[in-house]
Amino acid sequence: MAEQSFPDFLKLCQQRVNQQLDYLLPDPEDPTNQPSSSNQLKSALRYSVLNGGKRIRPVLSYAAAEALGGINQDTDLVASSVELIHAYSLIHDDLPAMDDDDLRRGKPTCHIAYDEATAILAGDALQSLAFEQLTKLQHIQPKTSLQLISCLAKAAGAEGMVEGQAIDISSVDQTLNLQQLEHMHHKKTGEMILASITMGALSTGNTTTDQLSALETYGRAIGLAFQVQDDILDVISDTAVLGKQQGADQALNKPTYTALLGLDGAKEKAQQLHVEAINALAIFDHSADQLRAVADYIVSRDH
Ligand code: IPE
Ligand code: IPE
Ligand code: MG
Ligand code: MG
Ligand code: MG
Repeated sequence: MAEQSFPDFLKLCQQRVNQQLDYLLPDPEDPTNQPSSSNQLKSALRYSVLNGGKRIRPVLSYAAAEALGGINQDTDLVASSVELIHAYSLIHDDLPAMDDDDLRRGKPTCHIAYDEATAILAGDALQSLAFEQLTKLQHIQPKTSLQLISCLAKAAGAEGMVEGQAIDISSVDQTLNLQQLEHMHHKKTGEMILASITMGALSTGNTTTDQLSALETYGRAIGLAFQVQDDILDVISDTAVLGKQQGADQALNKPTYTALLGLDGAKEKAQQLHVEAINALAIFDHSADQLRAVADYIVSRDH
């Protein structure tokens, strides 16, 4: 796979993870599936997951596995697991009590298409399903499975993504300094991106401490760069391309890199982080080329 172009690699990863997700979330409208009293919830789950996200976290899991000797079926489980957590976090992020957004991936957000209660429950269900996926790991040793599950729990929880979201919500209309902003971005977005990479690497059952440490430096840089680029796109992109409302951060007076550093300052920050990420991969040969390509993509993407 290392010889593949990045667009081909991206497509292949998206197909692999989408196949898993499609299988996990049965269509309540399909007459061959068991009828259920929770059709509305089941429909909301499919609506919110199988709706064309970029699948960057799964792609990072696959690229990390490739750098460490190869993708296997445990990598597929990890990839679907991190995307399920991400999908849950987006449903809750869009709720009226949080960012109050009505557009996601080019369609009405879950609470608009269904209702708030269904959106809350859909997020809850996706979080459980993410962890359930990791009970099926087969290729790696049980000790590594536990390490991987612990990594996801910490990254998603009250000292990871959820902490970042809490800081984000409590920082509206506040002026954060650069250090506080960086901390918030690392937590709300960086931790799950780093976990996607670490878990992908662990899914090979074939990691050294030096490799994990290099991937951590890469992941921290690229995780922050991802949210800096997200802040930039909120300013410079447009709603049709983004699939979410452009200008939503400014409308809510959110603490963002562009608000603090200006557009040029934020762009410069993203470039610095990109260099840091690439440098961290110096210990790897061509096997890490897709990780290098994802780093390029993250700071050049338009949505
Ligand atoms: C959006 O994530 C939320 C952030 C953490 C910035 P993505 O930009 O990965 O969204 P999708 O999954 O492609 O829709
Ligand atoms: C969301 O950050 C981060 C998580 C969902 C954890 P944003 O609020 O910036 O994401 P968008 O811009 O709505 O996608
Ligand atoms: Mg938010
Ligand atoms: Mg948001
Ligand atoms: Mg945003």
